[in-house]
Amino acid sequence: MAAHLAAVTEAVFSQLPPSVRFSSEDEAFLAGHAPELARLEDHLVQGFYDILFAHAATARVLSSGERAEREMALRRWWRRTLQGPFDTHYWEWQAAVGLIHVRVGVSNPMMIGMWGWTLNALQEALAGKLSLPPQEAGRLMEVFHRLAATVQALTAESYLQNYLAVLANSTGITAELIHRLVAVELAALDPSAHGQKAPTASGV
Ligand code: HEM
Repeated sequence: MAAHLAAVTEAVFSQLPPSVRFSSEDEAFLAGHAPELARLEDHLVQGFYDILFAHAATARVLSSGERAEREMALRRWWRRTLQGPFDTHYWEWQAAVGLIHVRVGVSNPMMIGMWGWTLNALQEALAGKLSLPPQEAGRLMEVFHRLAATVQALTAESYLQNYLAVLANSTGITAELIHRLVAVELAALDPSAHGQKAPTASGV
């Protein structure tokens, strides 16, 4: 493996402002709700894989195994997340989970999209299936959003750093040089030129 997971994890934590990343208070709050949240496992896992199997691009990635086997990975992830602790092992595992997905051809859009679905499904289930009072459900959702931001940052960064490390190792070009080349390439990019409304036939 090219990217060093401990280094990637440390870099991600140093870049995420503390108020947006998962904290020890979040961990305590989540632990306090773990028994109720564990009851959502079947609902989350089924909804998650219904979506992935219904879309050709994601179904293709899953085609190598049985659905029950695929589901087990998410079940284990949910159980470990509810159980804690959120220590170095957990965060480095999240960075490794990102890389496991690279290996089988899962893209960042697929990962990020499913995080979005998971957050929406949780929000609905906290008020619906678990009937939590609005304030408690709101606080839990804040916790889940910080967890999502932290894990997605690890996923995306381990993805990028692994590509860079493989490129650097196989070509001898250093990561610093690649960064400089990218910066030169992007120097002339003007994002506002892409945000304009396309002209219509009437020119309005
Ligand atoms: C919120 C997003 C996701 C989470 C949290 C997640 C979680 C996991 C976990 C924990 C594993 C097992 C890693 C291990 O062995 O320790 C795994 C494996 C796997 N996931 Fe995901 N996953 C996500 C999105 C996806 C998506 C979008 C796909 C497919 C399009 C997918 C397909 C797979 C496959 C095929 C494996 C098995 C990889 C292997 O064993 O080589 N996952 N996932």
